[in-house]
Amino acid sequence: MPVAGEAALPVWAYDAQLPGPVMRFKRGEWVDVDLHNRLPEATTVHWHGIRLPNAMDGVPHLTQPPVASGERFHYRFRLPDAGTYWYHPHLGTAEQLERGLAGALVVDDDSPPPVDDDLVWLLDDWRLDAQGRIAEDFYRFHDVAHAGRLGQRITVNGRVDTELPLRVGQRVRLRLINAANARIFALQPEAGVDAWLIGRDGMPTPAALVWDAPLLLGPGMRADVVIDARQAGRFAIQQLGGREAGALATVVVSGSGQAAARAAPEPSGFEPPPAPDLASAAVHTLRLGGGARSRDGWPEDSEADRQARQQRRQAGAKEADPAWTINGVAHTGDHHAHHAPAFGVTQGQSVRLIFENPTAWWHPLHLHGHHMRVLARNGTPLADATAWRDTVLLSPGDRVEVAFVADNPGRWLIHCHVLEHHAGGMGTTFEVAG
Ligand code: C2O
Ligand code: CU
Repeated sequence: MPVAGEAALPVWAYDAQLPGPVMRFKRGEWVDVDLHNRLPEATTVHWHGIRLPNAMDGVPHLTQPPVASGERFHYRFRLPDAGTYWYHPHLGTAEQLERGLAGALVVDDDSPPPVDDDLVWLLDDWRLDAQGRIAEDFYRFHDVAHAGRLGQRITVNGRVDTELPLRVGQRVRLRLINAANARIFALQPEAGVDAWLIGRDGMPTPAALVWDAPLLLGPGMRADVVIDARQAGRFAIQQLGGREAGALATVVVSGSGQAAARAAPEPSGFEPPPAPDLASAAVHTLRLGGGARSRDGWPEDSEADRQARQQRRQAGAKEADPAWTINGVAHTGDHHAHHAPAFGVTQGQSVRLIFENPTAWWHPLHLHGHHMRVLARNGTPLADATAWRDTVLLSPGDRVEVAFVADNPGRWLIHCHVLEHHAGGMGTTFEVAG
């Protein structure tokens, strides 16, 4: 059994590895993966952040049928962009991901900044019960309606007490992936190492940014960082968020003397996704609602819906009660196809999306099939408006404007990546007519 922490923990895993194997490719290469589902229940695989054809996106009932226990599905698609991506189930996600199903997919840059090492750190937290097993209280309504399922044990690549050994003068690239159900990591290196942010959600930042303040990484989000070891010692990478604040990992630098400060790493050149044309963009607003302490109360739950849910539960489905809405509608379970899309556009149309979060909670909103530019937060244009994201984090009260070119035909999901929020209704779709 793979190990999380000090004791062996029974998990669900891809290829019997925790996390799943790092899949590594060059830009333009094809991914060719045969999923053979040996779980006791149906699953799918979603390739988070990759601009791939709709039929390969892994959203059950929307882009493909669920892959039943014992069955297979073939995923095959080309990789248009370099960067740090990841894969995870998209069915019963709050449970399947929490049980360990997640892995990194790295597409190497054509001209990466030179580094001595290039590592993936997949971050997660685990809720363990009194016996040290994965707590079975998936979809607990309190979690669904509040901050989601937080776990008390934080791991890097499935292990606690991670150390990163370096020698004075070395430079390393870390690809951070937040695979936790609900935890927002707030990461900051201790003084003594120099650190830079060079990419987010797979796409390079326009210039390297000094990393000396908490870097917020919501569920689903990635950050590519570079660390320069300048002197010997032990330097924590602090995790400042939540009750489990402490060292995420420790950079252990050996050697002697003091290395000179190095120039900022050159962000890798890249071919950005098509730039949205704001003047002609279709404008749509997605307003979040619900959750505990909400002014507008719980989403409507008709007797018919309640009964249908009851029947699915009796048939073995694990499902959350509705707690969240987008534009007044709760998409619970994995049943997006039953609802009309929030909006439709024709292929190639620029879209300006306004996310409004009047709820009392944080929400990392994930857009499938496209990358978006974050234009403004609460009316203030982002300095970094040329950066691309596939997931954007909203704090309570936030109003965030994004834009993208809807160039990928199909029906796509937008949802909160706090998996319990998604299960409790915070998801919707939009249709790109090809
Ligand atoms: Cu990483 Cu729709 O998910
Ligand atoms: Cu949310």
